[in-house]
Amino acid sequence: MNVKVAETAGFCFGVQRAVDRVYDLIGSDAAPIYTLGPIIHNEEVVSDLEKKGVAVIGEEDLATLKGGTVVIRSHGVGRKVYDKIKKYGLGYVDVTCPFVLKIHKIVERESAKGVHIVIIGDPDHPEVQGICGWCQGPYTVIRNAEDAEKFTISPGKEVCVVSQTTFNYNKFQELVEILRKKSYDNNVLNILNILNTICNATEERQKEAKAIAGEVDTMLVVGGRHSSNTQKLFEICKKECGNTYFIQTPVDLDSEMFQCSSFVGITAGASTPKKIIEEVQEHVRVKF
Ligand code: F3S
Repeated sequence: MNVKVAETAGFCFGVQRAVDRVYDLIGSDAAPIYTLGPIIHNEEVVSDLEKKGVAVIGEEDLATLKGGTVVIRSHGVGRKVYDKIKKYGLGYVDVTCPFVLKIHKIVERESAKGVHIVIIGDPDHPEVQGICGWCQGPYTVIRNAEDAEKFTISPGKEVCVVSQTTFNYNKFQELVEILRKKSYDNNVLNILNILNTICNATEERQKEAKAIAGEVDTMLVVGGRHSSNTQKLFEICKKECGNTYFIQTPVDLDSEMFQCSSFVGITAGASTPKKIIEEVQEHVRVKF
């Protein structure tokens, strides 16, 4: 079987940095160590960390902790969460990705000036919730074309548009176009300051995945079930190659996926460890 693995598959810089930092903390005097939510959307890594004494907690658990260090993961959190950690006298290590921190700074600064913030992204995603938590005034989260069409704002009000770092680039463009059109058609939005804050790692991974999916007979997208960037990769690949499958580990591989296939492409989300990508690749080459 001919196999092509995307060069951009797997951990991005921000996730690698966050995971490395947590492993570095193990055995240090920072213990007990807690991560505020799973450090990455990957069950294997999270359970390995749990075995080494790193517990996953929710914001509601902060009040019950008796000391220790809370790790703020790469998605980042809103300002109130930092306040809570300090209020309960806990230590913290902040591994928010610098690209996410940049968005926090933008929305904090712009909203303080009275600018209405529009965040293009999934309102249920922790990164978006964290970004909302830095807005000092009104903000709107726009997830799809329907939300963009519904969006209205008082004439004369300035609007600053940012994006969730892992949002699909083409969808972002599409939603921005709707907002732009509204501003011309109805004179509803006067000043529209559009900042594409999609992370390069995401954009590059999506572009490469699309190109490979266009060449192969079967495309495999490897990642955690709850990883939104992996789900987006799957959507992109599925459009190019009907024979695209979302798998978590080699265990999910099935010979039916490779019927009439001689060329298989593999990509993986930002939270997929290299080890799993290599195992999938090996399995496909040897077994099918
Ligand atoms: Fe950061 Fe981009 Fe990864 S924002 S966490 S480097 S996908």
